[in-house]
Amino acid sequence: MRKPFIYGMSVEGEHFTDREMETKRLQLNFENGVNSILISPRRMGKTSLVKKVKSLSESAALKVVYMDIYKCRTEYEFYEKFASAVIQATSTKMERMIENAKEFLLGVTPRIIYNPEPTTEFSLSLGVNPRANDPEEILDLPEKIARKRGIQIVVCIDEFQQIGEMPDSLTIQKTIRSVWQHHQHTSYCLFGSKQHLMSNLFYSRKMPFYQFGDMFFLRKIPTDKWVPFIISRFEVAGSKISTEWAEKICTTVENYSAYVQQLAWNVLTATETEVTEQTFHDGLEATLAQVAPLFVEQTTNLSSYQLNLIRAICSGYHNDFGKREVTGKFNLGTRSNLPKLKKALIDREFLDETESGLFLSDPLFSIWFKQNMM
Ligand SMILES: Nc1ncnc2c1ncn2[C@@H]1O[C@H](COP(=O)(O)OP(=O)(O)O)[C@@H](O)[C@H]1O
Ligand SMILES: [Mg+2]
Repeated sequence: MRKPFIYGMSVEGEHFTDREMETKRLQLNFENGVNSILISPRRMGKTSLVKKVKSLSESAALKVVYMDIYKCRTEYEFYEKFASAVIQATSTKMERMIENAKEFLLGVTPRIIYNPEPTTEFSLSLGVNPRANDPEEILDLPEKIARKRGIQIVVCIDEFQQIGEMPDSLTIQKTIRSVWQHHQHTSYCLFGSKQHLMSNLFYSRKMPFYQFGDMFFLRKIPTDKWVPFIISRFEVAGSKISTEWAEKICTTVENYSAYVQQLAWNVLTATETEVTEQTFHDGLEATLAQVAPLFVEQTTNLSSYQLNLIRAICSGYHNDFGKREVTGKFNLGTRSNLPKLKKALIDREFLDETESGLFLSDPLFSIWFKQNMM
């Protein structure tokens, strides 16, 4: 039997819950050629949602290309990934991939590479390079194929925030936007985490991708959707959990998708027949033990002022860090240093800034920090 709870990779089928509204919205966008931009913190469910919509909307007339550009560090690494993903997804047979590459791209040397990883049997290497290939030529590839085949193409790019991290990023963004905005038969679904990076790309009027498409934040899956899911997954595993304990799993990790499944799995593992206070506690401890090494590593490089700001937030302060009440308890350095201090922790994704102030982004980090660093 497969694990009843899965975390750490995208999920589908019986492991996927909720998202009806977002599925519908994205599917409509895909089918009507509307560009989409999807943003959320890590491990909230973007990849799972896009893959689901891909499988729902694909047909003979509509091809959906999915690529993850997390590992692309430079402009041409991105073009290589982009072109090979488009060719692979639009070639009906493996043998046709090489021909298609040669038909649509000049000066490339396509090769099929067999991967040792079991998830993907092979990949296509094109050798896209600045001497032979203009960015415009590469970026036009899906549109050319779509026109030639009389189909519609949706190109989905996961971890799109990487574009903002590349050398000469602004020029790259301008180039991409200038080509894609003319596409009639191809639309784009751009999604990623690292909210501040994604926001930089799409929020500002000055940026090339401003108003590029229908932009939305993936909200958390609400408790009333999680509870029946958790209860039924426990049943599948021959175990039992009450509504109250299922709710407790959600609230403990503030409904963060991957953490709900991880904590549920650990509670299930700790439970023989039915969840109790003790088995819930054991499951939570096991979960904290799994994430602790990462948190230790993440905090070793923080300055003492940064650690103190986190301590202040863990003690219930979210605003007015310059107030005497706060500075008296926590040494945060000079008042003029505060904005820099906040920004550093927001950029490194420890903190989120909301209308009601600064909060820790990761609910398990918050529990761990209170237990170990206060
Ligand atoms: N719709 C969903 N239903 C149930 N669990 C989900 C759902 N979406 C995400 N998850 C949980 O979150 C984890 C990460 O999902 P993923 O799609 O990879 O997120 P992201 O792409 O935002 O990082 C999954 O392994 C699963 O545990
Ligand atoms: Mg993802």
